[in-house]
Amino acid sequence: MSSNVLVIEGDGIGQEIIGQARNALDVLNQQESLNMTFSEAMLGGRAYDQYGHPYPEVTQQKARAADAILFGACGGPKWDGATERHLRPEQGLLDIRADLDLFANFRPAIAFPQLVSSSPLKPEKVAGLDLLIIRELTGGIYFGQPRGIRTLENGERQGFNTDVYSESEVRRIAKVAFEAAMKRNKRVCSVDKANVLEVTVLWREMMEAVAKDYPEVTLTHLYVDNAAMQLVVNPKQFDVIVTGNLFGDILSDEASMITGSIGMLPSASLNEKSTGFYEPIHGSAPDIAGKNIANPLATIMSAAMMLRYSLAAPTAAERLESAVSAVLDRGFRTGDIWSEDSEAQGHKKVSCSEMGDAVVSALKA
Ligand code: NAD
Ligand code: IPM
Ligand code: MN
Repeated sequence: MSSNVLVIEGDGIGQEIIGQARNALDVLNQQESLNMTFSEAMLGGRAYDQYGHPYPEVTQQKARAADAILFGACGGPKWDGATERHLRPEQGLLDIRADLDLFANFRPAIAFPQLVSSSPLKPEKVAGLDLLIIRELTGGIYFGQPRGIRTLENGERQGFNTDVYSESEVRRIAKVAFEAAMKRNKRVCSVDKANVLEVTVLWREMMEAVAKDYPEVTLTHLYVDNAAMQLVVNPKQFDVIVTGNLFGDILSDEASMITGSIGMLPSASLNEKSTGFYEPIHGSAPDIAGKNIANPLATIMSAAMMLRYSLAAPTAAERLESAVSAVLDRGFRTGDIWSEDSEAQGHKKVSCSEMGDAVVSALKA
């Protein structure tokens, strides 16, 4: 049976990092007879330039028909401010997440032993870290109404957003988190701001309610400010963190650096029924776009998550992850994971495409 993979480069470094993931997938497709067929579509700023919309109709149709979607990143200074809010590149990404109901975003922060010295934290804090952040992706303040900028009676303008979560939205992400914990170390830490925000008072209540169905799992709660601090003090205390859209966005960037670089953290956005969406957690990195220096490994590992979760190809996924580990063993380092001791260790400073080529070579070895 063939599977139809939609590949979306997006903007900035999107093209560079997706190119490397595609090369690796092409090799696996052949070696493992995966029968993947690939098609391309546009989403984000370049899509807006070409079609007048960041999530154009043609992309919508292809996305809904795909078995899985591999995405790079979108956005950039070209479209900041110059584009109406609802037509911004980032809105295209929010639109596709909502359109496909991709409410469960898995962001695994796993420390490769080879990269512990790339982390700004002490190696002993990082070694062995295996943390899964589950971020609710289609609700909360990102989507709540009303929102906007209004003019007050005194003529001053006021910006406003609304943070909302319904019981059913929390229940379904809670179930995802507990199910994930059952396959891991059976600990869920729910992160909220229930000391201040009613929306998270309900969130906490629903987490407790769902926990009753998972007696083997230990549920704890942290306020988000403390959680941000605890991640730096002792990241290994966590197994699964479940949190809302905004807190999950912030905490996952923080967690990525603990593992060495934002260029290392993949993600999968899923629901029970439709297309899975796979993307690195980082953005389009306009500051390094076009220079062939971005780290493609977060995207390559997102492709591995795609093989595992959407394409039922666990062996191929494992082989791809092992290939990543092998190139790190061989000392290949893009600039973002080049560490203080890299020179002494004899690491090789490589470009985006050299890193991708090294992964391909490891797959072929
Ligand atoms: P960013 O993640 O693009 O970049 C933050 C920093 O990390 C930059 O210094 C960048 O060079 C570095 N970086 C990111 N990815 C890297 C990689 N693979 N290898 C090496 N270094 C990497 O965040 P930002 O600068 O805040 O945002 C830039 C644009 O990307 C904005 O338009 C933003 O809205 C958008 N964005 C998109 C996504 C997405 O598409 N999922 C995610 C975050 C930000
Ligand atoms: C991410 C990004 C997006 C988000 C933006 C670009 C809409 O930061 O995927 O983490 O905030 O979800
Ligand atoms: Mn983000």
